[in-house]
Amino acid sequence: MCGIVGYVGGRPAQGVVIEGLRRLEYRGYDSAGIALVDGGTIVSDKRAGKLANLEKAIGESPLPQVTTGIGHTRWATHGAPTDRNAHPHVSQHRRVAVVHNGILENFALLRAELEHAGVEMASETDTEVAAHLLERELETAPDLTVAMQRVCQRLEGAFTLVAVDALDPDRVVAARRNSPLVVGLGEGENFLGSDVAAFIEHTREALELGQDQVVTITREGVQVSGFDGSPAQGRQYHVDWDLSAAEKDGHDWFMRKEIFEQPRAVADSLLGRRGADGQLQLDEMRLSDQDLRDIDKIIIIAAGTSFYAGMVAKYAIEHWCRIPVEVELASEFRYRDPILTTDTLVVAISQSGETADTLQAIRHARVQRSKVLAICNTNGSTIPRESDGVIYTHAGPEIGVASTKGFLTQLVACYLLALYLAQIKGTRFGDEISQVMDQLDDMPGHVQTMLDKAEEVYALARDHVETRSVLFLGRHAGYPVALEGALKLKELAYIHAEGFAAGELKHGPIALVEEGLPVFCVVPPQGRDQLHDKMVSGIQEVRARGARTLCIAEEGDASIEPYADALITVPSVPVLLQPLVAVLPLQLFACELATLMGHDVDQPRNLAKSVTVE
Ligand code: AGP
Repeated sequence: MCGIVGYVGGRPAQGVVIEGLRRLEYRGYDSAGIALVDGGTIVSDKRAGKLANLEKAIGESPLPQVTTGIGHTRWATHGAPTDRNAHPHVSQHRRVAVVHNGILENFALLRAELEHAGVEMASETDTEVAAHLLERELETAPDLTVAMQRVCQRLEGAFTLVAVDALDPDRVVAARRNSPLVVGLGEGENFLGSDVAAFIEHTREALELGQDQVVTITREGVQVSGFDGSPAQGRQYHVDWDLSAAEKDGHDWFMRKEIFEQPRAVADSLLGRRGADGQLQLDEMRLSDQDLRDIDKIIIIAAGTSFYAGMVAKYAIEHWCRIPVEVELASEFRYRDPILTTDTLVVAISQSGETADTLQAIRHARVQRSKVLAICNTNGSTIPRESDGVIYTHAGPEIGVASTKGFLTQLVACYLLALYLAQIKGTRFGDEISQVMDQLDDMPGHVQTMLDKAEEVYALARDHVETRSVLFLGRHAGYPVALEGALKLKELAYIHAEGFAAGELKHGPIALVEEGLPVFCVVPPQGRDQLHDKMVSGIQEVRARGARTLCIAEEGDASIEPYADALITVPSVPVLLQPLVAVLPLQLFACELATLMGHDVDQPRNLAKSVTVE
């Protein structure tokens, strides 16, 4: 949500800022703006709609070639997505320009105070108050850094703020509380970004900031402090991916590129997990074996696609480790007064590591003294930083709003966690664990096999461009896959799509079935309890009522053929691992259908890549 860029250095700031905003477009936004510092004045432009609107405006009315600037893509919270409400916001006497991500919860009070003092508001946003407050603080503060520290002490809520002062053109000042911000370290230039994509083109050296910190960048250096002015330090790290990872690489969408990267992503997330002795090792775990042995309950918290990965994790952990697992939506977790003890392990799954609901949930768990383990893709993000341990998924940057390789690598991390716990707790023999690891090692190949069937899936999508409703059925580990398939379709094709546990059909959802309704059916592998046969009965039931059954079933499963209007086969893998292959046709279907419908697949309407406000 909201993209933020700041720059000070030797190059024309306009180019650096606009390019940075372009690389942050994937976060989701509905307006864009830029402010530059030009010899004692602030010049800015901001437009509703896509970045192209801003670029067009700048093309018609060029901005000066200066070397300090800030930019913003806004995902509206307070006030409609109009030119007026777009960021940057400029203070009353145009000394300060500010961009902001987050929500200033006490803005109404601050706004009333400013209006009482005679300040006229130019927008309906919460952000604008920060610009006016900074300008007023600058009447007594020695510089923008101190003004920012003072203002931040008055703000409530979550925020990343970035500001420039017209009278101090070589300084950009930023602050963060519960909202993402990273510093890019260059030579004779420095950068600020909501994430490293904003400056990856220029530097791969980054500085992670802590909570409640103010950072000042100049050409010469970077200075960090607390809101109270006390000196502080960020953590410097090297970004382990480069510009090419943030490009489409010949694909029409980042999402499609990311779908096709999944064999490599799965392989990378498995890399280096087995020690010389064959034992499973998780380097970033940080929780001791004894801590893990003491665990008597696991609660998984996550949102959206990550929540569905958590559902699969529950099946795997309970099966291999015999520890009770609850899976909870992060947004609901805190509000139900969950029972947490020091022997509860809370596992937070988040691709971005910045999802506000998940972050608040782990904070709640830590206050109750439970241990928190993050499963995360983004190095330097807040959730792993605030957790007791982390399993990084190593998927590489995920730019498409719809998670694909993020999901698959989360599944891998969940399996690894389950097997690791089984190893530590001794609930499975070493050779059983090894056998599953071998099966996981085969997965990149199986994922590729599924991707080789893309044309089959695209043909299916072409048959459904007029479709307005699709159901998804699954059982066991196939149930979260059904939910994920439905989510992908809602997000991208904007059509009614619902996932159900197939066993629930007769308890209500079957009433939705009518002539011609497409129903995706994720069929469990054959030969495991009655799971498979029950699913086949479910397929027969919907088909008897006119549904068009689109089945995803194990290769060689002859029992499905008579009841499948379309059949996509998946390699033969154990039921717990089947989500890794069964979800691929659903990703490809949603991506292709949305493309055929003319939708923006990478930036679906109303959505943001990381949801940084609650
Ligand atoms: C996935 O396609 C979604 N865009 C969304 O549900 C996402 O998974 C959710 O917002 C959680 O994000 P996170 O993994 O970054 O925490």
